Amino acid sequence: MAKLKKVMAEHLSKHRFEHCLRVSDYAVKLAKQNGLDQQEAALAGLVHDYAKERSQADFLAKIDATGLPADLKKWGNPIWHGVVGAAFVQDELGIEDPTILQAIRLHTTGGGHLEMTTLDKVVFMADYLEEGRDFPGVETARRVTDESLNQGVFYQLAHTLSYLASKEQVIYPKTFDAYNDWAQYLKQ
Ligand SMILES: [Fe+2]
Ligand SMILES: [Fe+2]
Repeated sequence: MAKLKKVMAEHLSKHRFEHCLRVSDYAVKLAKQNGLDQQEAALAGLVHDYAKERSQADFLAKIDATGLPADLKKWGNPIWHGVVGAAFVQDELGIEDPTILQAIRLHTTGGGHLEMTTLDKVVFMADYLEEGRDFPGVETARRVTDESLNQGVFYQLAHTLSYLASKEQVIYPKTFDAYNDWAQYLKQ
């Protein structure tokens, strides 16, 4: 873990590295609350944004090199750093555990209730709720998530979608599907 922290610090700005440390800490808190292995949560939280500061050219080359669907290319860093970022983590950090790689992949998109593991949900929520976050409603989001990890995931998906729509920004189809899936699962 100490070695990984060093590599993360070398690859990221101070601000992003510190975010990763806080996500790791928050992931441990959520892991304790949800009966998940704390080491696994700490590790996935630490490395989740490993690829966040890579160039567009790096991501495009990685999509080709790993055989990811070419239509991913029309998206951008906010989606790529998870979906494609997992491949950088695997190739450059040597993390092969598919459960960790999936948590990295899904942190930028979310996923349906049957797809997301507890680790995926923990990383997704720790990224949203870490102690440095101060968006309006963060305290409510933390309370909802303390009560139910699933309700927290749904809260984040609903609020992210409504934020993106209010800014007239594109919404990744998988995120839309994830929202509908959780709405049907939790609300019907
Ligand atoms: Fe991220
Ligand atoms: Fe993050």
